[in-house]
Order: sequence, then structure tokens, then C-alpha cells
Amino acid sequence: MKRILVTGGAGFLGSFLCEKLLAEKNNEVISLDNYFSGHKKNIEHLLANPRFEAIRHDVTQPIHLEIDEIYNFACPASPIHYQHNPVHTIKTCVMGAINMLELARNVKAKIIQASTSEIYGDPLVHPQNEEYFGNVNTMGTRSCYDEGKRVAETLFHDYRQQYGVEIKIIRIFNTYGPRMAIKDGRVVSNFIVQALKGEDISIYGDGKQTRSFCYVDDLIEGVINFMNLDSKEFGPINLGNPDEFTILELAKKIIELTNSKSKIIFKDLPQNDPMQRKPVIKKAERLINFSPKIDLEAGLKKTIKYFTEL
Ligand SMILES: NC(=O)c1ccc[n+]([C@@H]2O[C@H](COP(=O)([O-])OP(=O)(O)OC[C@H]3O[C@@H](n4cnc5c(N)ncnc54)[C@H](O)[C@@H]3O)[C@@H](O)[C@H]2O)c1
Repeated sequence: MKRILVTGGAGFLGSFLCEKLLAEKNNEVISLDNYFSGHKKNIEHLLANPRFEAIRHDVTQPIHLEIDEIYNFACPASPIHYQHNPVHTIKTCVMGAINMLELARNVKAKIIQASTSEIYGDPLVHPQNEEYFGNVNTMGTRSCYDEGKRVAETLFHDYRQQYGVEIKIIRIFNTYGPRMAIKDGRVVSNFIVQALKGEDISIYGDGKQTRSFCYVDDLIEGVINFMNLDSKEFGPINLGNPDEFTILELAKKIIELTNSKSKIIFKDLPQNDPMQRKPVIKKAERLINFSPKIDLEAGLKKTIKYFTEL
């Protein structure tokens, strides 16, 4: 029996992690969340399971729990949420990492960090492999998140070096799917909601900026496989889908799949918005056989179904 802590367990990715980990009969799962950007309804269906528990707690405060593994996913991930209280965002990244690493150190738990492609900033090399150091502004509107996540990676590395904590780091690229929050400004959920309401679809800039979109099931499989990889390899590894689309292509695809009458309108590009993002996933392929299976159209259909039924 393994007791597993998922911080940010009521969030978009965290709730899928809890669900997938519970599907394994030998696991007990604890969700820890302050419900800032996550919702109880994301884990409501798990509460009847005696192997599941939910705790309201903020990772910026220390906690002691007897656990074997930690998935550290607590952190608002969308710009609207993480820019709402930038100081708390950086505290969540940094103090949250310290508190979870201290917990891992105390109870000898293995810990995996949900890092992000944002640590590459507005990349000057394309596509991005794990050796690229990034191009990040310390004082922009995105810095509380980008730099917070960078420091968290350093902390993970140093807790391993200094205290021998068993760590793993994944850098997640744009992931989408059901249970994304409706008004959090992330491009896939934004476009779907606008298309379903027949509202104008707003593209920031000229729409030629590219992104790669990974469906949540593919991502979660990669995260758990890396955590379970019995090797000293701690990463960081990129996890995402390398298929690249322009934002304009995404908008047109969503209009087509929702049969929407929405028009596309163009707005000013926000500060430090990266022009291109695409992961090199060779390391994840080599280590855990990672290979995303759900293409954009199939993933969008599942996500649109979720938003239609809300
Ligand atoms: N979804 C993506 O595309 C993506 C990409 C890169 C990295 N990530 C990382 O994955 C993790 C989960 O992202 P998500 O997309 O599920 O976002 P989310 O906002 O849906 O989930 C984050 C969860 O963490 C909780 N949380 C926030 N601050 C907290 C705090 N101080 N203490 C306790 N709980 C707190 C929120 O309430 C929420 O439930 C984040 O760490 C994020 O940085 C996500």
C-alpha cells in the first residue's frame, strides 16, 4: 500500500492525477488544496472512495503527513489566477517547494515537481530541449510564476544534492482537457467557451504565435510513469505534445468543431507573451516511452463535450 499526497489535488491536472492514482487498488490518495483556482466539484466523485481524503491547506504553510510519495502540483497555472496575487504566487512556488521538500525529507518520501515550459520564457531556441536555459524577464507580469517555478527547480536540485531527497522534475507544456476553469484565460478553454456562446473569439496579436497542446490523459500517464521509473534519473524532462499549431489555426478548428457562428477578432499582445513553444520530448521518449496518443481534434472534441454539458 502506498500513501500518496497530491498538492493542488482539486485543480485541473491534480484532480486527474488523484483519479488515475486511485484506480490503482494499492494506493491511498490525499488531495491537499487551498481551493484558490481549483474546485471541490473536481474531486466530488472521489470522496466516497475510502482510499481518498481531501485536506484544505495552503502549501506556503508547513504540514506533517505520513506519506510515501508527493506530487507537488499546487500553484495557480493560468495568467489570470497567478497574476491576481503575484506575491502569493511566488510564495506558493518557493515556500510551497520548501515545505513539500522538507516533508519529503522528514518522512523519506519521493517527490515530483510540476515545473513548466514557462521556465524557458520567450525562447530564443526552437523547439526547446531540457538543456536550454531560457529567456525570462525577472520583472514582468509573468515573472512571479516563471521565476517562482525556476527557483523551485533549483530547490529540488539542491535538496537532492544536499540532503539526498529522492526528487523528479517534469516541465509541463500547455495541457488542456475537461475541468479547466471557465474564466481563467487559458487559450483552449477561452476559445471553446466563446465559440459555444457564439461570442467573438479574441486572439492576442496576429495569431501567428505557435503553441503545442497536450491532452490531459497523455500528460498524466507520463507524469505517473516518470514518478514510478525505478532509476536515479531525476530530470528535468519535458512532457507535452510536440505537434505545433498557430493560435489562429486553433481558433478556426474550435469554430469548426463547435459549428459556431463566432467571428475572430484581434487584440494587443500582452507583455512577454512567448511567440513559440514546442517541446523536444526525446528524453521522455527514451526514459518512459512517452508518446502522446490523442491528437488535437480528438482532445478538443472531449473538451468541448465537457464544456457543453456544464
Ligand atoms: N495545465 C498546464 O498546461 C500546465 C502547464 C505547465 C505547468 N503546469 C503546472 O501544473 C500544476 C497544476 O496546474 P493546473 O493546470 O491543474 O492548474 P489549476 O489552477 O487548475 O490547479 C492548481 C491547484 O493548486 C491549488 N493551489 C494554488 N495555490 C495553492 C496553495 N498556495 N496551496 C494549496 N493549493 C494551492 C489551486 O487551488 C488548484 O486546485 C501547477 O503547478 C502548474 O504550474 C500546468
